[in-house]
Amino acid sequence: MYVPRPHLPADRRVYNQIQRCSTDLLYSRETEDLTMLYRPLFWTSYWCEDWLASSGYRGGCEYILISSASSKTAFCFAYSVRKRIERGLPKESTSNVRIIGLTSKGNLHFTEKLGLYHEVYDYDSFLSAKPFHTKDKSKPQPRWIYIDVAGNQTLNSKIYTHFASPYSVSKLVAAVSLGMTNLAPGEAKADTIEWTANLENTSENGGGTKPISSSPSLGFWPRTEQFFLPEWLAIRRLQLTPTQMFDAQKEAWGALMQDCPSWVKLEYVYGGEQVQKAYEAMASSSRGLGPDKGWIWSMWDTEAENGVIKAKL
Ligand SMILES: NC(=O)c1ccc[n+]([C@@H]2O[C@H](COP(=O)([O-])OP(=O)(O)OC[C@H]3O[C@@H](n4cnc5c(N)ncnc54)[C@H](OP(=O)(O)O)[C@@H]3O)[C@@H](O)[C@H]2O)c1
Repeated sequence: MYVPRPHLPADRRVYNQIQRCSTDLLYSRETEDLTMLYRPLFWTSYWCEDWLASSGYRGGCEYILISSASSKTAFCFAYSVRKRIERGLPKESTSNVRIIGLTSKGNLHFTEKLGLYHEVYDYDSFLSAKPFHTKDKSKPQPRWIYIDVAGNQTLNSKIYTHFASPYSVSKLVAAVSLGMTNLAPGEAKADTIEWTANLENTSENGGGTKPISSSPSLGFWPRTEQFFLPEWLAIRRLQLTPTQMFDAQKEAWGALMQDCPSWVKLEYVYGGEQVQKAYEAMASSSRGLGPDKGWIWSMWDTEAENGVIKAKL
């Protein structure tokens, strides 16, 4: 079922979709709450990783750096990389990839505890951490890919300046914008990013060394690319059969549902009044909800008996 939203471009159709549980082949009552928490953003992380993997991680990389590492989109991306490493696919050179998370000080412990990143650093001190300075004799210039979920201009300047330095031991081969968790309302920053579409990233942009025209002083540099799920799915639909796509998603979703329950603690709020109170408390708090919690808000006053709720619609 689709909600008509004619003002949106045609390729946003996927966001207009409403799926009834009864026709959802990935639905199960036991994982309904986790589905609400993870479904849309997991597919973004999953297909973004698929997109990068389709270019062999841009010809191979040693490090994947992810900002806003405590966000679900970020850690689901890290999880997807881990799953690929576990599968040990020969095509991509992923076996030595180290996944580095960057987060705020208050979310450091949570992010480390997830166990999805090889290393986690806070935004203030990460540049003094070993991976940013270590020379590896076998890899004279380790290659890094940056997945930006924070969208924080100050942080990004720090990162780009580090890699642009002639003293940097590493090379940034791709910078991908995936989210904007740190963007405060009213910030004009989104207008200043130079977006590119996520093209089929085979050999053409495998090296990822296009100059950023707005930053000529940085010399050759990967341009910030924006991953946009519908675009990549449109390409994948030409490469894979519907069955292959469904099977891949089913396997990934089944694994996620097994692996994710310990990551975020679900808390339940029942009834319209309580939900309103919870919403107002969260909206007035400067840090919103901590990354360790997922709230399930129900307009019914109590939990369903035997998992059965009589639909009011
Ligand atoms: N490209 C796409 O198609 C796509 C799809 C899904 C999601 N996204 C984007 O990805 C981003 C992450 O989404 P998500 O659902 O994964 O987020 P989430 O789990 O709710 O992540 C929240 C994180 O945002 C950071 N944060 C910064 N300021 C905050 C504040 N005032 N209150 C709470 N958290 C704050 C914190 O991370 P740190 O402390 O680690 O920075 C926090 O852990 C969003 O910008 C979303 O729009 C994009």
